[in-house]
Amino acid sequence: MSRERFSSTQVPPEEAGFLRHLRPRTLEECIGQGKVREGLRIAIQAARARGEPLDHILLHGPPGLGKTTLANVVAAEMGANLVQTSGPALERGGDLMGILTNLEYGDVLFVDEIHRLPRSVEEFLYPAMEDFCVHFVLDRGVHARTLRYTLKPFTLIGATTRAGLLTSPLRERFGIFYHLDFYSEDELTQLVHRSARILGVPITDGGAREIARRSRGTPRVANRLLRRVRDYAQVRSDGRVTEEVAREALEFEGVDEAGLDAFDRELLRVIAEVYGGGPVGVEALAATLHEEVDTLVEVVEPYLLKIGFLTRTPAGRRITPAAYAHLGLALPRDARSQGTLF
Ligand SMILES: Nc1ncnc2c1ncn2[C@@H]1O[C@H](COP(=O)(O)OP(=O)(O)O)[C@@H](O)[C@H]1O
Ligand SMILES: [Mg+2]
Repeated sequence: MSRERFSSTQVPPEEAGFLRHLRPRTLEECIGQGKVREGLRIAIQAARARGEPLDHILLHGPPGLGKTTLANVVAAEMGANLVQTSGPALERGGDLMGILTNLEYGDVLFVDEIHRLPRSVEEFLYPAMEDFCVHFVLDRGVHARTLRYTLKPFTLIGATTRAGLLTSPLRERFGIFYHLDFYSEDELTQLVHRSARILGVPITDGGAREIARRSRGTPRVANRLLRRVRDYAQVRSDGRVTEEVAREALEFEGVDEAGLDAFDRELLRVIAEVYGGGPVGVEALAATLHEEVDTLVEVVEPYLLKIGFLTRTPAGRRITPAAYAHLGLALPRDARSQGTLF
């Protein structure tokens, strides 16, 4: 089963067009993340009043929660250009240097997956962020000279799914730090209504809520499921998305009432059946599932942790009684008698 649909980097092209269409353009249009939006609104207003670029901002949270959206919104609200790149795309210092020296006053530089920035490139960022300058090294050995090049003040917005992997010198250079959390069912219901309105899909409140409930607290997932349900409603029904149609369509897609897909259930089942409920190290788990460790950690696990189906202990991952119940599996006998799961 493909995990691409949740990934921050590999959104398929047709999906990308569809998402762009639904992406909010202003803070006002954004749904949820009340604290983050309020904080940004104040920072933007203050910076605009002073006629200065905004402080550097670090956005942290699982894929699909709106990091790229917010970066675009912030640039738009500042009336600034957005220049977009990503950690893995910047292989050498020169790549970053080229981008930095081309920035205009007040531009927003968005670096997605900033935790994947090579260390040698990261070091160019320190003076760029702090003093708006970069250092070129000319010649080598005893003739080496450093040339200082002044940049125009800009705003760096970094996005990461793994704030813990950022070095502290980099983290400390951000003036504003926001963690994006999963969205509530009410917020996602609102979001589904908004997307349905934009797409011209007739939907009932029950239909929107059913999609919201199964969307893993994630806007990107909600929008994707809405599209699947829309197709289903068109072909199997009269095109109207009711609660019943939504439920049928999502069952058909393999998305269960907790919002888990086949891969989520497979992961839980492997821990239960192969590893006796855990603890199991994430490397062993990834190997058994033929999946990459990073994908498990960044994409799959956060929601399972959030809903209390999975716990992380120093010894590894374990699944919880709630997950056993969801899978319809009996608790292992030793876990029940020793209470190790509780
Ligand atoms: N606050 C929000 N309100 C409405 N829609 C949102 C919001 N945040 C994200 N979205 C929708 O979810 C999609 C994925 O968001 P994105 O910013 O690409 O997530 P991330 O960069 O964190 O992976 C966007 O295309 C947008 O349509
Ligand atoms: Mg993104």
